[in-house]
Amino acid sequence: MSLPETMRAIEISRPGGPEVLRPATVPVPVPGHGQILIRVAYAGVNRPDALQRAGAYAPPPGASPLPGLEASGTVAAVGPGVTRWRVGEEVCALLPGGGYADYAVTPADHALPVPSGLTLREAACLPETCFTVWSNVALRGGLRAGERFLVHGGSSGIGTTAIQLAAALGARVFATAGSEEKCAACRALGAERAINYREEDFVAVLKAEGGADLILDMVGGSYLPRNVKALATEGRLVQIAFLEGTKVELNFAEVMMRRLTITGSTLRPQSDLAKARYARDIETQVWPLVARGALRPVIDSEFPIEQAAEAHARMEGSSHIGKIVLKL
Ligand SMILES: NC(=O)c1ccc[n+]([C@@H]2O[C@H](COP(=O)([O-])OP(=O)(O)OC[C@H]3O[C@@H](n4cnc5c(N)ncnc54)[C@H](OP(=O)(O)O)[C@@H]3O)[C@@H](O)[C@H]2O)c1
Repeated sequence: MSLPETMRAIEISRPGGPEVLRPATVPVPVPGHGQILIRVAYAGVNRPDALQRAGAYAPPPGASPLPGLEASGTVAAVGPGVTRWRVGEEVCALLPGGGYADYAVTPADHALPVPSGLTLREAACLPETCFTVWSNVALRGGLRAGERFLVHGGSSGIGTTAIQLAAALGARVFATAGSEEKCAACRALGAERAINYREEDFVAVLKAEGGADLILDMVGGSYLPRNVKALATEGRLVQIAFLEGTKVELNFAEVMMRRLTITGSTLRPQSDLAKARYARDIETQVWPLVARGALRPVIDSEFPIEQAAEAHARMEGSSHIGKIVLKL
């Protein structure tokens, strides 16, 4: 396959709002040792892309400065040492950055086959949320069948994946969301109870059920002390973002008295090896769930790559349910 020297991309012209995303022409990246080059068909949009655009989430050393943490497409070239993939194969992949472009490079073992029965458009929406939810809910949070699981932001890209994965693992799923429409979407995905946080107190709902064994939270701020109250004895809280803020007053005696665990993680700065391990787990544990229809990407909307700014504005407007995807 002959490759062009330059490609279309969306770059962050300066830190700021969605309008700083600008179409550009940049060199096609070259895959290094152990990497593949993907001819991108679709790129998923994630909140961390908006944080990066705003100047609040710098790419790790060596990563492309272009936004885009996941994509689907066709292998266009393989670097030295790659044995798993051949040019022409369809993949979806977690990326260190650079997904908002015609071509993107990533370590070969961060790519996965397109799950059977899924289109490339659907497959582009899976890597970032599956890696994040698998590593934080199944591994770090240790969710077990029969446990009560609460996810905040249930209608988000992360939330829609977390609800389905937790339900497939046999947990009882509770979710919060900001409107009745979003709550209905959470229930349709497998939440036995969706809590409209504008009208109901999630602490009271969970306490009436005996408390949450595991909470996945992206809100932080005032939710931190309320999450602690909502946890059952020996419960675990996994923090993956702080949309409402990082500073809060918390009575740690409750953590001690009820033997709670408070932890958290971010995916992007983790080592290539750690991400490769998650990829292997996801292929063996999660892809079969996707293949049998127990976990499907929920797609809110699609934008052509030239309209990446509109896609970010939609995400930050928070009226979306599920994932936003860019077509290359
Ligand atoms: N730690 C990691 O490795 C990792 C990886 C990927 C994503 N994340 C984080 O996970 C979160 C979800 O990501 P996503 O891509 O799924 O984003 P998303 O679809 O935009 O979801 C954000 C959700 O948060 C809800 N929300 C609740 N309180 C909010 C507040 N105070 N401000 C803004 N939104 C609020 C919004 O809906 P309603 O308020 O209407 O319910 C919305 O559904 C983001 O914060 C992202 O940074 C973390």
